[in-house]
Amino acid sequence: MLWPEETHRNAAGALVIGGISAVELAEEFGTPLYVFDGATLRHRARITVAAALAGGPGSRAVFASKALELPVILALLAEEGLGIDVVSGGELFVALKSGVDASLITFHGNNKSVQELREAIDAGIELIAVDNLHELDLLDELTAARPNPVPILLRVNPGIDVHTHDKIATGVLDSKFGFPLWNGDAAVAVARALEIGGIALRGFHCHLGSQLFDQYAAELAIEKIVAFASEMRREHGIEVEIISPGGGMGISYLEGMPEMDIVEWMGATADALERSCARARMPQPSLVFEPGRWIVGPAGVALYRVGSRRDIDGVRSYVSVDGGMADNIRPTLYDATYTAELANRPGAGAETVMIAGKYCESGDVLIRDIDLPRLEPGDLLAVPAAGAYCIPMASNYNLALKPAVVIVSEGKATLIRRRETYADLLTLDVLPAGV
Ligand SMILES: Cc1ncc(COP(=O)(O)O)c(C=O)c1O
Repeated sequence: MLWPEETHRNAAGALVIGGISAVELAEEFGTPLYVFDGATLRHRARITVAAALAGGPGSRAVFASKALELPVILALLAEEGLGIDVVSGGELFVALKSGVDASLITFHGNNKSVQELREAIDAGIELIAVDNLHELDLLDELTAARPNPVPILLRVNPGIDVHTHDKIATGVLDSKFGFPLWNGDAAVAVARALEIGGIALRGFHCHLGSQLFDQYAAELAIEKIVAFASEMRREHGIEVEIISPGGGMGISYLEGMPEMDIVEWMGATADALERSCARARMPQPSLVFEPGRWIVGPAGVALYRVGSRRDIDGVRSYVSVDGGMADNIRPTLYDATYTAELANRPGAGAETVMIAGKYCESGDVLIRDIDLPRLEPGDLLAVPAAGAYCIPMASNYNLALKPAVVIVSEGKATLIRRRETYADLLTLDVLPAGV
């Protein structure tokens, strides 16, 4: 799925998302505008929750809120039965403020501060995924006087090479995340965790990377983790309750590009767990899946207004829009590819152009060499699959105003984040006299 469900063209040839035309949306809320389709969000959340539940007793899914941390959407996803994973005190704060129950929250990250750990413990969240020995030492101090042990997972690195961009591959040999399984580090971490009376080791977590299409990598990870869990069971007599294979399920960014079948992925992972546990003669733990991109990516569309163009004879043509790397850094950061459609009219003719952003970097190009009808100033361009990792990574580079976000449903658009104003740009500045 590339576009939100039921995206179509109206009689005038304008794109319609969630029952509202892109023309109306842009007029009412301005551009750049991020548009989320409520039905698509709910549908994908439901598919995910059901597929995870089928993974065995106690299995479930949590949404990786780093993919999209908008309070209304977190609340909507929690209402659909998803837990929430956070990676910072900020994400924890927003999840709690969004009404997400602490008992549904897992805290990740490779360098949690004392304050963040304290906040997570005080909130009574479900699980802290511990990444390193430093965090175990901090938890030892922080939990010493607590009446109830704080539940943790240990993040392990199974050392599996996944086929994705280097910057979003996290479970390979050379990674900052997690205790390596292959060199004894993970075993040392288990022994250390078991010494700490204030924590309770519930299980193991890994996350192999993002935008993955190879479910065998997840199956292999499960096999390796179960083999390790079984070894730890023999050595320490511990029963593992949870194995979390993380997220990473890939989505379609371009016409004709398939998305990962999340039901198949979760089913295959559950089968791998059953097989591996049977082989190890070990009780089967619950699975906790952590998709982010798959749930929200295809539900979001970015709308831009077309402005200037530069035609360089014999080289290429650049068409600039009123957004770019400040609202979507992904193409600049890791060569992410997107497609787009002219959204306000059907359009005629075709030309190959670069869709450039408006910021002062040559690398600020949203889409390279795309075939589109000839674009005119004032046209609207719609970029699909913009629901994940755009808004959360947005910046104020060039003092860009962060875009507005709306949720559309059955012909109604609701503003869920207002566009920044010039005044917002000064809210953090301290202007002392006489410096
Ligand atoms: C620990 C963890 N879980 C889940 C995810 C979600 O990944 P994705 O959005 O690709 O599903 C990430 C992403 O980096 C992650 O680091």
